[in-house]
Amino acid sequence: MLDTIKKNVKKVMAWTGVGFAAAVLIAPVSHAQTREADSESAEAGYSRRGADTCLACHDDRHINAIFLTPHGNPNDARTPFAPGQLQCEACHGPGGAHTGRRDRGESRVPMPLFAKGSSASVEEQNAVCAGCHTQQLGHGWFGSVHETEGRACVECHNVHAEQDPVLSRNNQAEVCYTCHQEQEAQFEKAYAHPVRFGSMTCSSCHNPHDSAAAEGSLNRVTLNQQCYECHAEFRGPFVWEHAPVSEDCSLCHDPHGSNHPALLVKRPPLLCQSCHSQAGHPSVLYTERSVENANINVVAGSCLNCHAQVHGSNHPSGPKLSR
Ligand code: HEC
Ligand code: HEC
Ligand code: HEC
Ligand code: HEC
Ligand code: HEC
Ligand code: HEC
Ligand code: HEC
Ligand code: HEC
Ligand code: HEC
Ligand code: HEC
Repeated sequence: MLDTIKKNVKKVMAWTGVGFAAAVLIAPVSHAQTREADSESAEAGYSRRGADTCLACHDDRHINAIFLTPHGNPNDARTPFAPGQLQCEACHGPGGAHTGRRDRGESRVPMPLFAKGSSASVEEQNAVCAGCHTQQLGHGWFGSVHETEGRACVECHNVHAEQDPVLSRNNQAEVCYTCHQEQEAQFEKAYAHPVRFGSMTCSSCHNPHDSAAAEGSLNRVTLNQQCYECHAEFRGPFVWEHAPVSEDCSLCHDPHGSNHPALLVKRPPLLCQSCHSQAGHPSVLYTERSVENANINVVAGSCLNCHAQVHGSNHPSGPKLSR
């Protein structure tokens, strides 16, 4: 595979697509785009032999693994390794003095981007990635929570890995947990969405690139729409509605996980009593004056014994959510 790629390596630097990414940082490229290929690359400090130059010193397996990813596909004209593209330097910037020999004791000039010692900012580095990925990112990335928090694409993405962990259902959460420890604890609770088992993951509900569509960077416009995607049976409309259900599932459920069955924020009757007043029918059952009733109902399912259809009922004679 490497051999094919190396054969394809021709330093024709006229392709303008990468111009965007590079031009953000390296002005000479955009000025020089119409000039003859080799002199341009020399002027901009790009290596004449592209990846071959780099691989002469960097032939580690974990670096080479990039050739097994979509980025390494030479047959896709948009990738860094397509003929005429800048290869390693499409991301790392022009090699320039970094690639040369150095005297004993002399320190090597760092690569401009994605390298220890590089002075590039997060914005500059993100611009390189975003320059080729405008389509996938849409308009959402700019202004998203992660973008405004100054997070880097490469804090989530590992482009050298054969399989980018954040794109895999089994490994994504671990990447997110490096920053979101509170959420890790929630998914460890006794009742939780099955992220731990890899049958779903964070991006089943969230779009980490886009916060504009919905509060909480959800994939769907509202929290309830997000839940209906998989729990359509609660969408309604119901003949007998329970007002909070169509309003916001998270009034009763913790979307990540909880220590109460069914991911409830509290157990009934406390859950129910957080909205239904102490006075009148319901709580008469749970005052000091009716301890016996209370015990029976708490043990055996509490309010749900009689109000079994807590999400709403379509039964003709099911008012008060009773059947
Ligand atoms: C002559 C050998 C040589 C060549 C050619 C070379 N490098 Fe390096 N590179 C090194 C060495 C050695 C280091 C380790 C850092 C140091 O010694 O300063 C390094 C470090 C790096 C790093 C930073 C590693 C880190 O841990 O952050 C990156 C990225 C990098 N090189 C990319 C490239 C790319 C891309 C090319 C081709 C344009 C290239 N190198 C060409 C020798 C070379
Ligand atoms: C699609 C963009 C992209 C391309 C193409 C690319 N790299 Fe990288 N490279 C990165 C990023 C991102 C990092 C990690 C930076 C970080 O974690 O902060 C990295 C890290 C490195 C490192 C240091 C990490 C380590 O584990 O030692 C080296 C060396 C390196 N790249 C060399 C290369 C070489 C050689 C090529 C060409 C064969 C290449 N890169 C192509 C984006 C790229
Ligand atoms: C020269 C253009 C270019 C640059 C620069 C570039 N990419 Fe890509 N990237 C591509 C193309 C093309 C694909 C393949 C897209 C496809 O298959 O639809 C791709 C694929 C990806 C994928 C999907 C990989 C997979 O396994 O499915 C991710 C994630 C990604 N790029 C992230 C990044 C990040 C992060 C950076 C910056 C470090 C970056 N890209 C820089 C062109 C680029
Ligand atoms: C907070 C973590 C995070 C950050 C930061 C992030 N991404 Fe992603 N990215 C993801 C996740 C998770 C997915 C998978 C989404 C899915 O499966 O629906 C993804 C998917 C992608 C894909 C599509 C891969 C495919 O196969 O469809 C590309 C391309 C990509 N990201 C590029 C970028 C670029 C470029 C940046 C920076 C501008 C960036 N990402 C920043 C987490 C992140
Ligand atoms: C490098 C650190 C970092 C990583 C990795 C990271 N995040 Fe974040 N994320 C943040 C910061 C900082 C915030 C803003 C403060 C907060 O809400 O905790 C944030 C906020 C969020 C929010 C709330 C967004 C909103 O609109 O209110 C969600 C959802 C989120 N992240 C999901 C993810 C997912 C999913 C992943 C993994 C694919 C991930 N994050 C990876 C740092 C990170
Ligand atoms: C079943 C859907 C679902 C899954 C899976 C999911 N989340 Fe969430 N997440 C939500 C909902 C709903 C909210 C609340 C959004 C709101 O505030 O409107 C939320 C909120 C958040 C917030 C913001 C918390 C705050 O207090 O503002 C972060 C951060 C977050 N999720 C991270 C993650 C991470 C990391 C993962 C994966 C480990 C994940 N989520 C998986 C549905 C989900
Ligand atoms: C991507 C699909 C998906 C989305 C979106 C989703 N869920 Fe789930 N939900 C599941 C799966 C899968 C289970 C586990 C079912 C099982 O274990 O049998 C589950 C379980 C549950 C349970 C516990 C069921 C039980 O038997 O204890 C509750 C409650 C729940 N989800 C509520 C929600 C809420 C509220 C939302 C919106 C914030 C939501 N779900 C979004 C897939 C989803
Ligand atoms: C008023 C509180 C309340 C609201 C609001 C609510 N639920 Fe529930 N939900 C419950 C209770 C209580 C249970 C436990 C029922 C039981 O044990 O029989 C439950 C159980 C569940 C279950 C697992 C059991 C089953 O019947 O499959 C799912 C899934 C679920 N709810 C999803 C949702 C979704 C989706 C929404 C929003 C559309 C929602 N809930 C809104 C109180 C609520
Ligand atoms: C977030 C607040 C909230 C929670 C929690 C809540 N409810 Fe309600 N409930 C309401 C509202 C609002 C109404 C509508 C009141 C009205 O129309 O006057 C309602 C109505 C009802 C009704 C009357 C329905 C009808 O057809 O008239 C019953 C029965 C009921 N709730 C039972 C429960 C039970 C049982 C629980 C606990 C599992 C519960 N509620 C939890 C807010 C809540
Ligand atoms: C033994 C069965 C039973 C139990 C247990 C029970 N209820 Fe009821 N509930 C009823 C019946 C029957 C009605 C209808 C009364 C009526 O129409 O006058 C009702 C009516 C209601 C109403 C509607 C009141 C109105 O004014 O329309 C609410 C709200 C309610 N219950 C909440 C609760 C809550 C909260 C609990 C647990 C703390 C609970 N119920 C436990 C049987 C029960």
